[in-house]
Amino acid sequence: MENVPNHVAIIMDGNGRWAKAQGKPRTYGHYKGSETIHDIAIAASDAGVKYLTCYAFSTENWIRPKEEVSYLMGLPGVFFNRFIKDLMEKDIRVQLIGEMGRLPAETQKVLNNAIERTSQNKGMRLIFALNYGSRREITLAVKQIVESGISPDEVNEEAIQNHLMTAGMPDVDLLIRTSGEVRLSNFLLWQLAYAEMMFTDTLWPDFTKEELYSMFEAYANRHRRFGGI
Ligand code: FPP
Repeated sequence: MENVPNHVAIIMDGNGRWAKAQGKPRTYGHYKGSETIHDIAIAASDAGVKYLTCYAFSTENWIRPKEEVSYLMGLPGVFFNRFIKDLMEKDIRVQLIGEMGRLPAETQKVLNNAIERTSQNKGMRLIFALNYGSRREITLAVKQIVESGISPDEVNEEAIQNHLMTAGMPDVDLLIRTSGEVRLSNFLLWQLAYAEMMFTDTLWPDFTKEELYSMFEAYANRHRRFGGI
């Protein structure tokens, strides 16, 4: 495959509707969605993607029913138990963006363990956005910059970038959102400045490697101008 996007970000939407259509509880949709993360991470890594960022839980998701939030907080444990072996085999490194501090202690432990175990891996970075919100991220970056006491003259794009949770990661090349919704939902607003965007009606649990690869093909044929002509 040629011209594969270096950094792909995904808004994994539609788990609840998928479950409803099957007559199952919403949590079952999230469970199936976590299997899709595994399949898509492997497929992206095989294609040569270097960064894959998945929106798993937003700062706004806390208002969901308690049982659903609690299920989602337990899902990383289920996911890594089942799949850490495959991630290791593919040399995939797990990272996080978002504010870990508000997650349950057990979830933090599971996540830190996955980060630690994969920290020497040299392949694709699989980045989970958990308790993440882009406005919050930018607000915290500004706060840190002000606290560091640098002069207004030194505030530039690079300084801001270096204080975002994605510091050290490249901008997003391709954003994918499933389930027919066409909005950004407070995801990576700064990092998406020049990203190509693709939206599909497919619900996240039904999203496949084939559809991912057909998006990569479409991406390779798009001419990115970055403001030029
Ligand atoms: C959106 O579907 C999905 C989420 C808010 C959660 C996504 C999380 C996962 C797929 C699993 C996370 C796993 C790990 C390992 C961190 P929705 O519930 O908004 O669906 P709906 O719009 O149909 O209701």
